[in-house]
Amino acid sequence: MCGIVGYAGGRQALEVVLEGLARLEYRGYDSAGIAVLAGGKISWAKRAGKLGNLQSALAEVPPPAGTVGLGHTRWATHGAPTDPNAHPHTDCSGRLAVVHNGIIENFADLRRDLLARGHVMTSETDTELVAHLLEDEMEQADGARPSLAGAMRAVCRRLDGTFTLVAVDVRDPDVVVGARRNSPLVVGRGNGENFLASDVAAFIAFTKEAAEIGQDQVAEIRADRVTVTDFDGAPVRVRDFTIDWDADAAEKSGFKWFMTKEIAEQPRAVADALIGRVDRDGRIALDEMRLDDEALRAVDRVVVLACGTAYHAGLIAKHAIEHWCKIGCEVQLASEFRYSDPILTRSTLVIAISQSGETLDTLMAVRHAREQHSRVLAVCNVKGSSIPRESDAVVYTHAGPEIAVASTKAFLTQLVSCYVVALYLAQVQGTLYASEIAEVLGHLRRMPDAVEQVLGLMEPVRRIARELAGERCVLFLGRHVGYPVALEGALKLKELAYMHAEGFAAGELKHGPIALIEPGLPVVVVVPSPGDMPVLHDKIVSNIQEVRARGARTIVLAERGDAKVAPYADTMIELPPVPPLLQPVVATVPLQVFACELADARGHDVDQPRNLAKSVTVE
Ligand code: F6R
Repeated sequence: MCGIVGYAGGRQALEVVLEGLARLEYRGYDSAGIAVLAGGKISWAKRAGKLGNLQSALAEVPPPAGTVGLGHTRWATHGAPTDPNAHPHTDCSGRLAVVHNGIIENFADLRRDLLARGHVMTSETDTELVAHLLEDEMEQADGARPSLAGAMRAVCRRLDGTFTLVAVDVRDPDVVVGARRNSPLVVGRGNGENFLASDVAAFIAFTKEAAEIGQDQVAEIRADRVTVTDFDGAPVRVRDFTIDWDADAAEKSGFKWFMTKEIAEQPRAVADALIGRVDRDGRIALDEMRLDDEALRAVDRVVVLACGTAYHAGLIAKHAIEHWCKIGCEVQLASEFRYSDPILTRSTLVIAISQSGETLDTLMAVRHAREQHSRVLAVCNVKGSSIPRESDAVVYTHAGPEIAVASTKAFLTQLVSCYVVALYLAQVQGTLYASEIAEVLGHLRRMPDAVEQVLGLMEPVRRIARELAGERCVLFLGRHVGYPVALEGALKLKELAYMHAEGFAAGELKHGPIALIEPGLPVVVVVPSPGDMPVLHDKIVSNIQEVRARGARTIVLAERGDAKVAPYADTMIELPPVPPLLQPVVATVPLQVFACELADARGHDVDQPRNLAKSVTVE
């Protein structure tokens, strides 16, 4: 949430910062702002609304040229998305500017104190008080003015909550200072230039060399060096890493939306998620994993923690873990976990699933699990992010950068990675024979092709989505692993098309939700394979008949050639035959296309749905 960029180097800071903000806009688009240091002054501009509004303002009144600067795209927390609440915020003298991602929890006390001491606030944000706290530090009564980094360390020690802060000051004109607690911040190392950003996407066009900034650390970047300390000023060694994707991966490349591009990339993403998972002897080998087999043999319970779409991946992973490993698995919303008095032991394996690796609810749940001495395995897409860094082990999903706010390729790669983790656990615990594991792996290797086939059959999905653009409500039904797919279909439609959409376990319909069915109501049903799951198949065919009898319009996702369900489908979307546990990998794709097309037909911004942001770094 909120995108932050800082730059010190030889280029025009404005251009670098605007380029970075364009790549970070998916993190928040309530407002945007920049500040540039030039000629002993700070010039700044900020506008409510999307980055385009700021760019228009800057085209009319460009700031003076300068090579040190910062920028921000906002997802509003404290204060409405207005011009005054947009970042950057300045102090009373206008000599420093600061941008912020997160929430400062002791905001009210600090603000009261600052106002009592004569500071003048012009916004409702918690960020502005940081500018004034920095001002106090820079103007100490005894005249011993600290560096901007020193002032930042002193201020951070007084703050409660979550924050990434980045600041510039005319009295320290060559430096940009960043600090982080629980919100993301990375350094980009260039040649004669350095970058600070919430996400590597901001500087990928300039450098692929990056460094992680740890919890409670302050980074100072100048054109020629990077210095990192903890909040007490002790130097810390940072971990450098190389970004393994190109700037092109974060471009739309001719697609109308990032989401359509990311949906189309899924066969490749699924294939990449499987690369290097099997050794020469055909045994599963998880390169990034740091848990030893002895610890995994002792696991007697699995708890999966995640939010949103990643939670749905967890619900599907539960079926695979229980089926292949014969270990009880529960899936919890990370945002609820800490407050539910969870029972964890040393032999509980916690699997935290997160695309961004920065979702604060999941990060806090991971910390809680580790405090209870459970081992945590992260299934994550973004390298160097907080959740894998704070876990005992990690399996990266290798989906590549996901820019659209709605998660698509990350979800499919989370599924595939969870299947692989479940198979690995089954291998270590001896609950599957090597031949059985090899058979599943064979099916997994065919999944990229299966997804490609589904993508080739999307015309009827697009057509029906456009036909339904005027509807107010859509229901989604599924059973077994089809139930989380139904939940995912409903979530996608809510977030993109702003329609009322609900996912139900089809068997639960008769216990209440069937009252919602009225003539013409679109009902999307995910049907299991008739060959592999005949009983469940028959039951869901009955469920379809029940809603149809009450006038519902049925859109059925079923295996190619499923003659039993065809008579009850107003629209039939065919899926290639795959083993039952793997069906979500193919069945989710039409629902992504459906939501994307319907949102587009309703005239919405598919990549930046209202009120949302990628990477939710507040609780
Ligand atoms: C929905 C979506 C969100 C995320 C959720 C968790 O399309 O993208 O529901 O899945 O916010 O995010 P990560 O996976 O980054 O922890």
